[in-house]
Amino acid sequence: MTVIENDLSTPDGPDRLLAELAARKLAPTVLINNAGFGYFDLFVEQPRDEIEAMIAVNLRAATILARALGEQMASRQHGYILNVASFAALAPIPRYAVYSGAKAYLVAWTQALAHELRKSGVRVSVICPGFTRTEFHDVARHTKTRLMQWIELTPEQVARAAIRGLERGQLVIVPGWWYKLNAAVLRLLPRSWVAAMSAKAVK
Ligand SMILES: NC(=O)c1ccc[n+]([C@@H]2O[C@H](COP(=O)([O-])OP(=O)(O)OC[C@H]3O[C@@H](n4cnc5c(N)ncnc54)[C@H](OP(=O)(O)O)[C@@H]3O)[C@@H](O)[C@H]2O)c1
Repeated sequence: MTVIENDLSTPDGPDRLLAELAARKLAPTVLINNAGFGYFDLFVEQPRDEIEAMIAVNLRAATILARALGEQMASRQHGYILNVASFAALAPIPRYAVYSGAKAYLVAWTQALAHELRKSGVRVSVICPGFTRTEFHDVARHTKTRLMQWIELTPEQVARAAIRGLERGQLVIVPGWWYKLNAAVLRLLPRSWVAAMSAKAVK
């Protein structure tokens, strides 16, 4: 296994990673855009540099890496791209406004990209996990509520759902029955209600 360290929040981070892959003559057949983080606070009180880094890592880096590696995969007519979004993409979450927005971009972008690449031999999926037991909430400076702990997924559950979904050619993967049910219900409700309910769930 080769590990290449890279800070994807920097302007040249994604290009440096691509240059490093090229220098080592590595041509990945699988791209998992997993790097990401959130910042839990009112939007107007969030530090500007955190907002810019959130957009850079969650959204910009994923787009740049998929552009370069997706083209290579398409030319070889084989490859997989998995974008790691969040349940926050499906339900706007106050105090995670930029994070929710960035993850919503990943879902819409993946859906369009999958259509464009449908005959290329490259499979594209996006996964929308709910609360998962990782370091995410410590990084986001967010103390988990009881509800969040009750419905929390394990990283293994999410990884299994991702692999199963990719293999089956599922476009939008939502792991866990609780989140699947909620995703279906939330689609029927006005977005302003969903935002108000989400605000309660995380605070
Ligand atoms: N945990 C949840 O509840 C949850 C729910 C839905 C979606 N997600 C998404 O799942 C993905 C993985 O997060 P996680 O839950 O595993 O949280 P995590 O334990 O905090 O891991 C975050 C990952 O992103 C990487 N990363 C963060 N900033 C980076 C940067 N500037 N450059 C390069 N890599 C960077 C981290 O690398 P280092 O370890 O090297 O810092 C780490 O591998 C994220 O996209 C997150 O938005 C998480």
